[in-house]
Parts: sequence; C-alpha cells; structure tokens
Amino acid sequence: MKIGVIGGGQLGRMLALAGTPLGMNFAFLDPAPDACAAALGEHLRADYGDQDHLRQLADEVDLVTFEFESVPAETVAFLSQFVPVYPSAEALRIARDRWFEKSMFKDLGIPTPEFADIQSQADLDAAVASIGLPAVLKTRTLGYDGKGQKVLRTQADVAGTFAELGSVACLLEGFVPFTGEVSLIAVRARDGETRFYPLVHNTHDNGILRISIASTDHPLQALAEDYAGRVLKQLDYVGVLAFEFFEVDGGLKANEIAPRVHNSGHWTTEGAQCSQFENHLRAVAGLPLGSTAKIGESAMLNFIGEVPAVDKVIAIDDCHLHHYGKAFKVGRKVGHATVRSADRATLDRQVKLVEALIKG
Ligand SMILES: Nc1ncnc2c1ncn2[C@@H]1O[C@H](COP(=O)(O)OP(=O)(O)O)[C@@H](O)[C@H]1O
Ligand SMILES: [Mg+2]
Repeated sequence: MKIGVIGGGQLGRMLALAGTPLGMNFAFLDPAPDACAAALGEHLRADYGDQDHLRQLADEVDLVTFEFESVPAETVAFLSQFVPVYPSAEALRIARDRWFEKSMFKDLGIPTPEFADIQSQADLDAAVASIGLPAVLKTRTLGYDGKGQKVLRTQADVAGTFAELGSVACLLEGFVPFTGEVSLIAVRARDGETRFYPLVHNTHDNGILRISIASTDHPLQALAEDYAGRVLKQLDYVGVLAFEFFEVDGGLKANEIAPRVHNSGHWTTEGAQCSQFENHLRAVAGLPLGSTAKIGESAMLNFIGEVPAVDKVIAIDDCHLHHYGKAFKVGRKVGHATVRSADRATLDRQVKLVEALIKG
C-alpha cells in the first residue's frame, strides 16, 4: 500500500518509520527542498496548491493523509476527487480555524475559554471590554508553537495589537489560570471504533512543548474521553486526533484539537504497545487498530534548536533518540528523546539526566 502525505516534516518522517514495517510505501508533497521526511520516501517538491503535482500524487497512492492542518481547503477538495483522503476535508476545515474549532466545542457542550471573533481593532476593544483581561489574542489560522498569538495583560497591551498580529482574522480568548495542561491522543477507525491513549501532562515554554509525561489512572481520563469522543463522532473522524486541554477547577477546558499525530504523543513510539504513528496508519488504511496501553512509565523531551551529543543521549538508560535530520536553528524542533522506566521515581531521574544534556 502506498500512502501520500501532505507535508514532509518530522511527523511525516515518523509516520513512514512506523508504516514501513507494515509494508507501506510513502510519497510526501512538500515545497521545502530539505523536507526531512524525504529520507523515508518519495518527495514531490511542489506547492500545496500545485494541481499537477497533487494529481500526480493522487494517481500514485492508495490514500492521502496529512501531517499538518494548515492545508488549503482547495487542496483537500481537489485531492478528494481522485483518492480517499483521511481525515476528511470537513475535519480539516474545522481544525485549522480556531473560530470554527471553539464554536464546535461550544455546540457540543464542551467547556472552553470565553472567546470572540475579531476582525478589527474595534472588535478587539469591544471583546476586551466584555471578556476582560488578561486575555489571549490568536490568529484564527496558521498559528503553531505559540506563534501568531499574544497575551494581553493590561489595557496598554490592547492598543494596536490587531495590526501587530498582521490585521488578519483573530480570536480573543479569556486567559485560563490553569493548574496544568494535558492532552488526549485518540484514534478512530473507518468503522468508528475508537481508542484513547492515557492522558499526557504537558509543559510548554514560550508556547513550545518542552516535556510530556504519560499519566497513570488520571482522574480526568474518562471526562477527556467523553469530550474527545463527541468531537470524533461529530466529525466522523478517521485517524489520530490530538485534543489539548487546560486543567482548571478540577475539570477540563478545551484548548484546541490537532487533526494529526501530535508532539505530545511521541512517547508512544516506545511507551505504548502500538504508537500513535502506527495507529494513525492502521486507521486510515482500514486495518485493525492496535492497543493504546502504556508499557511502564514514559516521558518525552523535545530538542529545540539543537540535538545534544548523540552518544550522551543514548547512554542514558532506556532513553531513545529521535533525530529529525533537520538543520539546527534557534526555536526549531529538531529532535526528541523518549525515556521509559518501570517506576515513576526512576523516570524522574532519567528525565533530569536528559534535561541536563539540553541545558548543556
Ligand atoms: N486561553 C489561554 N489561557 C492560558 N494559556 C493559554 C491560552 N491559550 C494558549 N495558552 C498557552 O499557550 C500555549 C499555546 O497555545 P495554543 O492555543 O495551544 O497554540 P499552538 O497552536 O501554538 O499550540 C498553550 O499550550 C498554553 O500554554
Ligand atoms: Mg497547542
């Protein structure tokens, strides 16, 4: 079976690493000359709107999937004429736009921060008056790793901020005084069967994920599954979907969904019986889903800007390096490590060792 992937970054690369042993081949469409997934499959180097290359991809593969959500709607619609596309155009339309996404949460009765659509500075001034400060202004589309957003703490932060974010459609959200952030990685098969991984605790710094720790018997697991299940059903979703939540007042508020494999699910490569990457491929290919059960305790640490010395990373007990083969650049995700252990105290010690390497 040949799988077409829109996007050729590290997520595409890790999909191919998981799918190759299942006998799958991969083709990636990505305009970047140095797309790091190219090492694992065919690289169609073209813009996402290039119909000739999209047609070529559709002709070559059995189905198309995505490694990022900011795919133009026309691209998905065009591909859908010729080849099965998972997740669907509708799922991508909702997930790529924060207004559609939060409106869906509200319609499904899933708690989410207060929010307002912002099309001008006047809209922003009015929304700040009603939602109050602090608040977060985010572009409706194309934001990632904390890019395209600004925290507004005082009235002085509000003036001119619509222009500062590029005078594009935005969303204003109330700032959530969360006690923690968790994510739920879910997978849904073509026949509707749904499985969930254990909730993951995530720590961000400057909007970028730094560390994820898989939980054991999290008290909010059932609630998170209930909320995510509503979304999966609503979108008739096929594939892996990541759901980010704020933990607040002993409950959950939905932050965002990602219609793809997710950074906070990278620990599953070594830490779960079947990884998020393999389960995504199983789902889109119509194969039986694999177990989402955890193998012991697991954590994942991102390498941002550079990968520490390889020999030092892999010298740590049960520590697994994932080097993306990308050029090192400040603020860029270039790799990660997962650590595994039978008990939490040992895991915490392994995490400290990796953190020490990151700090240099
Ligand atoms: N409404 C909010 N209240 C408090 N913190 C927030 C809010 N929105 C975002 N953040 C912080 O910023 C991070 C990135 O925001 P998010 O909306 O998830 O965008 P991205 O698409 O960049 O991941 C979140 O993980 C959280 O730490
Ligand atoms: Mg996020």
